[in-house]
Amino acid sequence: MDFPIFHLDFMGNRLLIAIIAILHVLINHALAVGFIPLVTILEYLGFRQRKTNLEIGMQWDELARKMMFVGFVITTSIGALTGVGIWFSASLTNPAAIGSLIRVFYSAWFSEWIIFVLEVVFIMLYFLRWKKSNESEQAKRRHIRFGAALSVFSWLTMVIIVAILGFMMDPGNWLSDRSFFSGFTNPLYIPQLYFRTPLAMMMGGAFALFLILIFLKKEDTIREKAISFTSLWLLIWSPVALVGALLYRSTIPESMMGNLPTAVGTRAFINWYDSILLVIFGAVIISLLIALWGFLKPRKLPRPALVIPIIVLFIFLGSFERVREFIRKPFVIGEYMYANGLRVKDYPLYQKNGILPYATYVSTPQVTEENKIEAGKNVFMIACSRCHTVTGINSVVRKFRNITGPGKPLNAEAIKQYIPKMHQVWYYMPPFPGNEAELDALTAFILEMDKNPQYIRGAQSAGVTISPKHSRKKSNREGI
Ligand code: HEC
Repeated sequence: MDFPIFHLDFMGNRLLIAIIAILHVLINHALAVGFIPLVTILEYLGFRQRKTNLEIGMQWDELARKMMFVGFVITTSIGALTGVGIWFSASLTNPAAIGSLIRVFYSAWFSEWIIFVLEVVFIMLYFLRWKKSNESEQAKRRHIRFGAALSVFSWLTMVIIVAILGFMMDPGNWLSDRSFFSGFTNPLYIPQLYFRTPLAMMMGGAFALFLILIFLKKEDTIREKAISFTSLWLLIWSPVALVGALLYRSTIPESMMGNLPTAVGTRAFINWYDSILLVIFGAVIISLLIALWGFLKPRKLPRPALVIPIIVLFIFLGSFERVREFIRKPFVIGEYMYANGLRVKDYPLYQKNGILPYATYVSTPQVTEENKIEAGKNVFMIACSRCHTVTGINSVVRKFRNITGPGKPLNAEAIKQYIPKMHQVWYYMPPFPGNEAELDALTAFILEMDKNPQYIRGAQSAGVTISPKHSRKKSNREGI
């Protein structure tokens, strides 16, 4: 409430973050964390081959270099942009949450930036010096060491960020002692890191298989070996990932598991929950079978089959991220701050006095008969707009219309009764933070939007209004 509210009334803020974040995680896991160690190992294998058969050794080296070219171009462009983009979009959408995270994790973020810059330097050196490294044995050895360092640094960025992601789900002891150490070693940290690391290795392997299909033709001598090596890589990591997934699942707080059916599908698909799980499970088994086939009979593996593991693992990771984001609700930081950016401990105060008097950027510090609809809009912006729109995706008006049923007009009494209980009906919504007058105003706003729908503009296009309660009075300014 101390910040102006950014809002996208068509796509919603959630979708904006989801698109950027999922794209980033896919690139980070499949093309950095899991892919670079695999490329480095391929380069090393080529280097060893060269001693016995120079030509074959050079073919391995060339394959690894071409793969790294793809990794280099994508990670340093879309990868880096979306990485910064996640924090940009998250700070726009929920500045209070990012503010709290920065206070707890300042030194972690600071180290993260240094590691990230080093990672970029290493990736430049690794790719751009590749051809030169073939001039002498010593240069090649040094180059492979760069690859190994780059692999470690890519993983280290994950080591830091996963601590923050785990913290948002379950801050653990931090809730009582507020120390950086407790925050970093939250209960979900190690299980999540243990799950993500092998998953990233598998995704790197699946992407490598896909590239082998593009770069090597049937007649290339190393094609079979490359397919069976990469399939083996996938096979080795998959049981590790499975154990990680089970461990992670067992540490997720029970209260969050209630959200799981909605998180996997959306609510409309709740009853499909089991079948969706079955499809995901079946798809993973199919890609493992393909990896097994690729390992045992690489020559017989049909080309289209190489695309399946990558599609399956991408969908799998995409759903995993969605689930992780969803089951954390109604909190943005477990038990500490709700997804609307309001702290749990401030709720009693807001529910008594209302939220508007405490909001810095509202035109209406108090609800009156004349400003009711405008005040209702301000309440909507503070309490609902992190997750709902008025005219677009997850529209609050449409949600109420669905509850009322087709053909019937919205009923003010029903809305007023629903909102104070909404967090009991659906666990993922925070309780309504405002008081009685604000509930009235919000209801009036929803009814008005049902009659005259309006695209609601956020502070980024509508500009900001400082609440008369919070703006400095002229006399004050003169006194300075
Ligand atoms: C943390 C995010 C979040 C916040 C904040 C939030 N909601 Fe929701 N709300 C949701 C989600 C998610 C759904 C379900 C979407 C679906 O159907 O899949 C939902 C559904 C609803 C529904 C339909 C429920 C039903 O029984 O069919 C109503 C009505 C609703 N919200 C009203 C509100 C109002 C009013 C506010 C603000 C006072 C609000 N919500 C704040 C996330 C939120």
